[in-house]
Amino acid sequence: MTKARTDLFDSPASYGRVTRFLHWSIAGLLAWQLLVMGLKLIFGRQPFLSPLVASHQPVGTVLFVLIALRLVWAVVNRRRRPPHGTGPLGLAVVIGHALLYLLMLAVPLAALLRVYGSERAFRPFGIELFAARDAEIGWMVEMGAALHGELGWVLAALILGHVAMVAVHERVWRDGTLARMAPQKRKRDRVLG
Ligand code: HEM
Repeated sequence: MTKARTDLFDSPASYGRVTRFLHWSIAGLLAWQLLVMGLKLIFGRQPFLSPLVASHQPVGTVLFVLIALRLVWAVVNRRRRPPHGTGPLGLAVVIGHALLYLLMLAVPLAALLRVYGSERAFRPFGIELFAARDAEIGWMVEMGAALHGELGWVLAALILGHVAMVAVHERVWRDGTLARMAPQKRKRDRVLG
């Protein structure tokens, strides 16, 4: 494989370009979603927040697509990815990451279930994904409403834990974990190599 092609895929030493693009774009958009909903929780329905809150559904839909791609790409790369270590700590990392993936999928899915079951049409970016219906599908709306916000905050707590563990890797163990996902990593390899 050429260097440019191998850069696309993960390797045991670091994550490839596709994984890093998906990781940082998802991280940025998730931060946006949670920040805006956090501001809404603190300040309530204020006019200055309306345009930000209006971005929540389209951005969340894009996030769902990116997260689904991220999951597929992780499966494609499963034999090449950097190892997470062994023993109880390695197991904790695997469980933590599995929970992150599960919630990243479940949170937008619950919201999409709710809008799918509702009477109103759903048109993110003006593209009609779900047409209006005559009567709402009660269980979909109720289940989506019950799960979306609650799981959204559980996801926020998990993300904080994830960031805190990266800080421990960087500050305490100094084992270069962040560099495996950092955008400049491969560039530096090329300069050194
Ligand atoms: C991963 C993506 C998403 C995250 C992390 C997320 C997170 C959240 C959070 C934390 C809340 C606040 C719940 C509360 O009020 O306590 C919320 C509310 C909401 N979300 Fe999401 N969400 C995402 C995707 C979506 C999608 C795809 C849709 C629609 C298709 C959506 C529709 C809504 C709606 C309608 C509300 C209520 C907003 C309001 O009260 O005006 N969300 N979301």
